[in-house]
Amino acid sequence: MNASLPPAVRATALRKSFGSGDARAEVLRGLDLTLAPGAFEAVMGASGSGKSTLLHLLAGLLAPDSGRVEVGGTDVTAMSDAAATRFRRRHVGVVFQSFNLVETLDVAENVALPVRLDRGRPDAARLAALLARLGLAGKERRRPSELSGGERQRVAVARALFAQPDVVLADEPTGNLDISAARGICALLRELHAAERSAILLVTHDPVVAAAADRVHFLRDGVVAASFDTGHDPAAISARYLEFHR
Ligand SMILES: Nc1ncnc2c1ncn2[C@@H]1O[C@H](COP(=O)(O)OP(=O)(O)OP(=O)(O)O)[C@@H](O)[C@H]1O
Ligand SMILES: [Mg+2]
Repeated sequence: MNASLPPAVRATALRKSFGSGDARAEVLRGLDLTLAPGAFEAVMGASGSGKSTLLHLLAGLLAPDSGRVEVGGTDVTAMSDAAATRFRRRHVGVVFQSFNLVETLDVAENVALPVRLDRGRPDAARLAALLARLGLAGKERRRPSELSGGERQRVAVARALFAQPDVVLADEPTGNLDISAARGICALLRELHAAERSAILLVTHDPVVAAAADRVHFLRDGVVAASFDTGHDPAAISARYLEFHR
C-alpha cells in the first residue's frame, strides 16, 4: 500500500435523511469512513441501518445533506451530475442490491455497457473470461428476464469488475446465491483485489462473505460504530456482531 496515494474512498461527516416532518428519518448522522487504496473492507449492520444509502452516497448516485465524499482524492460531492457520471464510469464499479441491469440488453452488452458509454472498446477476451469465471458462459445472449436471480446478480458483479475500476462498491453481491456460488464471488473479489489492486467495499449480512474482507465496519445509529480486522474468521465476526447488536 502506497502511503502517498490519497484514500480510495473517504467519507467525511456524511449526513443523509429521508422524508420530512414526522416521517423524517435521519439515516446517516455524521458518518466518517476511509478506505485505503487497494483495501478490502466490509460493512455490516441491521436492515435499515443505512448500508445501501451509504453505498449510493459513495458512488455519487445520491447527494448527502451535508458532508463530503472523495474518491481517489477527487471530491465527487462537488461535481455536476454529468461529471460525476463520467467519473464513476471510469473509476468506480457498483453492484447494486437490486442489480439494475438493462432489460433491453443481453448479458454481454450489460457487462460491457460502462466501457461502451466511456467510448472504450470492450476487450472481448476479458469479457469471455470474466463471464466464464462467473459461470455465465453460454448465457451471453440472454436478456436479464431470461436469467435466474443468482445469474442476474453475477451479471451485475461482472459489470462492476469489467472496467477494472479503482474502487468496487458492492451491495449484498451474494444475497441471492447458493453457498458455492457465493464462495465463488468471494474468491473472485479476493483475486481481483490481489491482482488489480482495486479497493473493495462490500455490504453483506453474511459473516462468511465479510470474512473475505480484511476489515469490517458495523453501522449503527447512522455512524460507523465499530471497526475491526476480520482475521478472515466468520465465527469471530458473528460473535462480535451479536455482541454489538444485542
Ligand atoms: N428514497 C428513500 N426514501 C425514503 N426513505 C428511504 C429511502 N431510501 C432509504 N430509505 C430509508 O432509509 C433507511 C436505510 O435504508 P437502507 O436501504 O440504506 O438500509 P440498509 O442498511 O441497506 O438495509 P438492508 O440491509 O435491508 O438492505 C431505511 O429506513 C429506509 O426505509
Ligand atoms: Mg440495503
